[in-house]
Amino acid sequence: MDFKRNILITGGAGFIGSHVVRLFVRKYPEYHIINLDKLTYAGNLANLADIEQAPNYTFVKADICDFEVICELFRKYHIDGVIHLAAESHVDRSIKDPFTFARTNVMGTLSLLQAAKVAWEGAYDGKRFYHISTDEVYGALKLTHPEGVPAPFTTKASSNDDMAYGTEFFVETTKYNPHSPYSASKASSDHFVRAFHDTFGLPTIVTNCSNNYGPYQFPEKLIPLFINNIRHNKPLPVYGKGENVRDWLYVEDHARAIDLIFHEGRIAETYNIGGFNEWKNIDLIKVIIKTVDRLLGNPEGQSEKLITYVTDRLGHDMRYAIDSRKLQSELGWEPSLQFEEGIEKTVKWYLDNQEWLDQVTSGDYQRYYERMYGDK
Ligand SMILES: NC(=O)c1ccc[n+]([C@@H]2O[C@H](COP(=O)([O-])OP(=O)(O)OC[C@H]3O[C@@H](n4cnc5c(N)ncnc54)[C@H](O)[C@@H]3O)[C@@H](O)[C@H]2O)c1
Repeated sequence: MDFKRNILITGGAGFIGSHVVRLFVRKYPEYHIINLDKLTYAGNLANLADIEQAPNYTFVKADICDFEVICELFRKYHIDGVIHLAAESHVDRSIKDPFTFARTNVMGTLSLLQAAKVAWEGAYDGKRFYHISTDEVYGALKLTHPEGVPAPFTTKASSNDDMAYGTEFFVETTKYNPHSPYSASKASSDHFVRAFHDTFGLPTIVTNCSNNYGPYQFPEKLIPLFINNIRHNKPLPVYGKGENVRDWLYVEDHARAIDLIFHEGRIAETYNIGGFNEWKNIDLIKVIIKTVDRLLGNPEGQSEKLITYVTDRLGHDMRYAIDSRKLQSELGWEPSLQFEEGIEKTVKWYLDNQEWLDQVTSGDYQRYYERMYGDK
């Protein structure tokens, strides 16, 4: 079958990647979507069970660091677009094992860039290499308003009384200042992507997004971890005093932004993507507790007793807040979901998909892939 475009999406079995793959497979039957994923602990093909039989979808189990394999994929599928999400993504793991982060996030990105350069041989018309990055590369913002003040700009996603916890926001020109091995590895990969544009003319785009939440997130990250722990009446470990502030965006809104930017974003540009939706961790945790308790039929707030303050994460950034007005004004994107609505949908999804949660937490799916695809 002849497809209009052949798009390689890396990390498509992970949290955000699975939403992007699903969106593209369903929305663009005229595109061939090739999902390349190594299926690390964070990759789970059950995230894509609903589209795995689609005629325009192909899954390839491979490592982005394996340059020869990637080159072969470019040849075999005539790849003309890349949306690169594959990464090691958990800050705590990067503190324990920074080498894996340098290997996958830096060397893996470099391997994809070089493969695209070799395959496209300077014929860049209609080609696109889109790299997904994080706001964490910008470092930390100060918490100048610990109690929060009205935010200077808002979108539909802001529902926390439109709070901002400081006067500064990350813009596309904010200087990089990463503090964790994770953010350092992502910063390094962003630099390589831009260098490949500046040196070889590769048609690249980079976006830096704030914290995502929603279905299919591995339950080592705050929101699914806490939902799962409340379900099992287990402690809810809160770093420090829970005062760190993050800007939260519903994952499908991120996927919509990726679709828009892949098609209409300007080459060599950077776009920040965020929810204008700042929450102190402890306030967010209380919203999760309230929602889970209500949906489980527990007395409201019953699970607050599970909150357990633990020693703060090393190098823990105090506040992230994205200014995504460039994306709004250039491409007309804005988050579609109010935060309360997004949290309600998210909690419901995890409670309705307990089998998925149990499989992921027990590691069952990993053993299944080992049998299916051989050693890992
Ligand atoms: N989760 C967030 O809040 C967030 C926010 C901003 C940006 N990002 C970025 O978005 C991307 C996706 O994040 P996520 O939260 O979905 O991550 P994730 O950890 O859920 O998924 C990562 C995926 O990459 C795959 N992978 C890992 N190493 C690989 C390798 N060497 N070769 C091939 N595949 C490999 C994993 O199997 C997994 O499916 C990452 O680049 C991350 O830095 C995430």
